[in-house]
Amino acid sequence: MQKRVNKQVALASRPEKNATTEHFRIEEIAMPQPAEGEILLRTRYLSVDPYLLRVIKGIQTYAPVNPGDVMFGRSVCDVVESRDPGFAPGDTVFMYSKWQNYHLAKGESLKKIDTSEIPASAYLSVLGHSALTAWGGLLDVGQPKAGETVVVSAAAGAVGSVAGQLARIKGCRAVGIAGGKAKCDHVVDFLGFDACVDYKSPNFEKDLRAAVPNGIDVYFENVGGFVFDTVLSMLNHSARIPLCGLISHYNADEPVTFRHWGQMLTQLVRIQAFRVSDYVPRMDEAMADMKRWYSEGLLKNHESIAQGIENAPTAFVDMLSGRNLGKQLVKLD
Ligand SMILES: NC(=O)c1ccc[n+]([C@@H]2O[C@H](COP(=O)([O-])OP(=O)(O)OC[C@H]3O[C@@H](n4cnc5c(N)ncnc54)[C@H](OP(=O)(O)O)[C@@H]3O)[C@@H](O)[C@H]2O)c1
Repeated sequence: MQKRVNKQVALASRPEKNATTEHFRIEEIAMPQPAEGEILLRTRYLSVDPYLLRVIKGIQTYAPVNPGDVMFGRSVCDVVESRDPGFAPGDTVFMYSKWQNYHLAKGESLKKIDTSEIPASAYLSVLGHSALTAWGGLLDVGQPKAGETVVVSAAAGAVGSVAGQLARIKGCRAVGIAGGKAKCDHVVDFLGFDACVDYKSPNFEKDLRAAVPNGIDVYFENVGGFVFDTVLSMLNHSARIPLCGLISHYNADEPVTFRHWGQMLTQLVRIQAFRVSDYVPRMDEAMADMKRWYSEGLLKNHESIAQGIENAPTAFVDMLSGRNLGKQLVKLD
C-alpha cells in the first residue's frame, strides 16, 4: 500500500500588497488518527477565493489567519476512516477544511454530497458557494426583469460566469466585462452571454457603450475602480447594483474616485452590498434551481484546476491576477 503523506499550506508572512507564493510555506505533518466520534478525511478539491487575500492581510478578521496558521477554505473531501456511525469510507462530503491533504472532523461539520451524476468539483463551483453568490446577488438583490440589460464584471470568473448565465435564463440581455480577448470569447462562445467587453482594451468605454444600446438596468459588481466608473455613466433610471466584490480595490495604493458618481443620484440608482452568507439559509432552494438549469444544459461550468497541495499558493495568486477561467480549484493528489 502506498504510504500516506500529509502536507499543509501555512501562511509564512502577511502580504502588504499583492500576495505571492513567497507568503506561504508547505509543511509536512503527521497523519491524524480519528478518536471516537471523529472522521478521517482526504481532501479531493480545495476552493481558492479572493476573500482570502483580505483574510491573510488581516483586514477581514472574523476568521483570522495569522503568520504560522494553516490556510482554510471550502473543500470536497472523501471519508477514509470513520468512528462516527453516520459516515463510512466511500462517502464524499462538502466542508470547510484546512489546506491540508488529510484531516479530522466531526460529523456535524460535514454535508454529504451525491457525486453519482454530478462531478465532485461542481459542488465548489456551479453548485457551490460561487453559484449561490450569483443566485442571491443577481436574482434577489438585482431583481432582473425580462428584456432588461444586465452587465456583469469579472464575467469569466466563478461568480460572474454564473451571474451572467442567470441573467440570460431570466430573459435579459447579458453583457460581460472581462480581461482580454480570450476571456471575452469564452464568455460569449461557451457561456452564451450576448456580448463581452475587454476592460483592458483602450476602446473599453466605446465598446461597452456599443454593447448596451438600451443602457444598463442591472450591474453585478465584482471589481470596482474604473470599470465601475465607466458603467456608472451608462446606468438607466432605477438601475440596481448588487455589490458583490471590489477586487481591484483590494490592493489599491491610491484612493479610488469616481467621475460619474452623480449618476447614482440623477438616475435614482439602488446599490446594495450582500454576502454569500446572507443566502446560506436558502442554499437548498438555490441549488434546486442550479441543478435543474445545469442538467437542462442552460448553465455551463468551467473550472481551472491546479494539481497538488504544493500548487495551492500558485493557484491562489494566479486567480487574483486573472489567470483563471471559471472557478479556480486545486485537486489534491
Ligand atoms: N459578496 C460575497 O459574498 C462574495 C462571494 C464570493 C466572491 N465575491 C467577490 O466576487 C468577485 C469575484 O470572485 P470570484 O470568486 O468569482 O473570483 P473570479 O472572478 O473567479 O477570479 C477573480 C477575477 O477577478 C478579476 N480581476 C482581478 N483583478 C482585477 C482588477 N484589478 N480589475 C478587474 N478585474 C480583476 C480577474 O479576471 P479578469 O481576467 O477578467 O481581470 C480574475 O479572474 C470578487 O470581488 C470577490 O471578492 C463576493
